[in-house]
Amino acid sequence: MSKLISGKEVSLKVKNQVAEETAELKKQGITPGLAVIIVGNDPASRVYVNSKKKACAEVGFNSYEYALPEETTQEELLELVEKLNNDNNVNGILCQLPLPKHIEENAIINAIKAEKDVDAFHPFNVGKIMIGEYAFLPCTPAGVMELIDSTGVEISGKSCVVIGRSNIVGKPMAMLLLHRSGTVTICHSKTQNLQEICRNADILVAAVGRANFVTEDMVKDGAVVIDVGMNRLENGKLCGDVDFENVEKKASYITPVPGGVGPMTIAMLMKNTLTAAKMHNKLI
Ligand code: GUN
Repeated sequence: MSKLISGKEVSLKVKNQVAEETAELKKQGITPGLAVIIVGNDPASRVYVNSKKKACAEVGFNSYEYALPEETTQEELLELVEKLNNDNNVNGILCQLPLPKHIEENAIINAIKAEKDVDAFHPFNVGKIMIGEYAFLPCTPAGVMELIDSTGVEISGKSCVVIGRSNIVGKPMAMLLLHRSGTVTICHSKTQNLQEICRNADILVAAVGRANFVTEDMVKDGAVVIDVGMNRLENGKLCGDVDFENVEKKASYITPVPGGVGPMTIAMLMKNTLTAAKMHNKLI
């Protein structure tokens, strides 16, 4: 029987620390501001954007929402990004992904000023993550690191397996584990012997995007299992990438969905926005 890692609790600690620092900044007349752009009507994106705005209010930030219609052109979106790049009230710019198909995501990511890129998606910030000298944390992977650290389990020297190689989660996740001296394997759809590789993992991070993909036979006894998945079942229920009911019996620690990684991503976004505000005011 494993111990549950509570993303709610750990994220609250991070947000409380951000709120305390924000209160201090406000005494100097500085209020961090986050601009959130959403294009179209994707219901999941709407939920995420609402959670991000709510978190801003909780920690004392200003948030500015730009909800644009599905038909918005790439040029119009680039114009908005440019306006926000030059707005001194805006410390962080987040454009919720995915974007409609007629907009090239990389064109938008590249247009956001690196110093306001609180998602850490801009190639400059991705490069910084690669060399381990970064100001902005990749939000979801950094949230996962906080969750692992909350267990007290040492990462150095351990076998760490990341399932998924996306730019947003899998690749930066592997980098953060590597920076902490984990022995890291990245698995993906073409990986052979997936079960065998996963079964060797002391720390297993699932970021596949497929419900119940990680089954009990893929998990080592006593492993730490982190579930980044957020899948909507036909009955409307949210479920992760891990077959929680059965894997929970084998893992030493496991994250639930919801209430695991999700709240951490948002907490780390708040941390990045605070960092951006401090950088823009030459406090760091
Ligand atoms: N879509 C899914 N996750 C994310 C994220 O972390 N940031 C942005 N901007 N879009 C996303």
